[in-house]
Amino acid sequence: MNSPTLLSRLSPSATAMIRMDHSHVMATFHKFTADASPDKKKAIVSMVCLALEIHAQIEEEIFYPALREVQSGSDVLEKSFPEHAQMRRLIASLRDMEPTEPGYDATFNELMRDVMHHVADEETVLLPAAERLLKDELSNLGARMTRRRLQLAAPHSGEIAMNTARTMPTTTMLLAGGVLAGAVIIARRAGKQTRHHRAPDQRLLRGA
Ligand SMILES: [Fe+2]
Ligand SMILES: [Fe+2]
Repeated sequence: MNSPTLLSRLSPSATAMIRMDHSHVMATFHKFTADASPDKKKAIVSMVCLALEIHAQIEEEIFYPALREVQSGSDVLEKSFPEHAQMRRLIASLRDMEPTEPGYDATFNELMRDVMHHVADEETVLLPAAERLLKDELSNLGARMTRRRLQLAAPHSGEIAMNTARTMPTTTMLLAGGVLAGAVIIARRAGKQTRHHRAPDQRLLRGA
């Protein structure tokens, strides 16, 4: 069995993956409380920011262009790009601040508000459109998105593990099937099934 087939079988479809990512980020948002310790706030913010960056990049590189090919002139699709840019500005501001600084919580809450609106538009307009217009391609798109996720997450694996441990119990992480944890689980399963235990991630990254 070659890797593209394996990835297609193990990956969620493109729209299922996007919904899963949204749920994971929302669940992490909800862990942020005003009275949390500075360390916990920082871990939550780091995890949310990285997950959003990877998610937005995958959408911009793979999902949005595929949708644009079959549905040009969608206002919701076109405004997604500037909304991602605004999200990246807020992420950059948060990374420049300490959790104890005035404005940290307000900036994070602004990010959460913006992302919630953006996610609502995607889930009520873009994803249903993709499921109508790209029905036969969602599986292949999902596999491409998973491969790209592995590439983008790989340099951050240490940070992801540390923030995951600080922000959620392992059982919750596994049940959530989240954006980054899910990629690790898929890579491990791929490694077992293809009997190349030493470097499954690299083979998936290359798409060999
Ligand atoms: Fe988006
Ligand atoms: Fe999204």
